[in-house]
Amino acid sequence: MESALERKLLELFANLYALYLKTQNCHWNVKGPLFYAVHKMTEEHYEKMADEIDELAENLKQYDIHVPGNLAFLNETATIKSVLEEATAEQYVNDLIESHKLFQRDLNKLLNERQLEGHHGLIDALTVILKEHRHMMWFLHSSL
Ligand SMILES: [Fe+2]
Repeated sequence: MESALERKLLELFANLYALYLKTQNCHWNVKGPLFYAVHKMTEEHYEKMADEIDELAENLKQYDIHVPGNLAFLNETATIKSVLEEATAEQYVNDLIESHKLFQRDLNKLLNERQLEGHHGLIDALTVILKEHRHMMWFLHSSL
């Protein structure tokens, strides 16, 4: 696999981790009338993302891609950086929607990469992640 594609896959991995943590940040710190609904929804989402992180990492390993499990790598590589503090539930959810949009845009681009052609295991794993994130996006949008 070409190294440019490897870099994009690792960036997607780092962004998935960033989105996982951002979702927990909302889960822990959200307040107000939407607290219970958003707290429960984000729990379902980060649990799903924990499985996706493991699935993606293990798929990358099957393609002999080294997956660094350390915070410095994730911080350097992720492009999803913003973290809200002391925000309203609507602000937390809107911020999650923006990050999910970025993530899905990159994931869609990757799935259209010609270099990915023939790598069926990886395409399947990425397609499952995309489907799950579309479902999360529907819940996020509908909760506002
Ligand atoms: Fe929790």
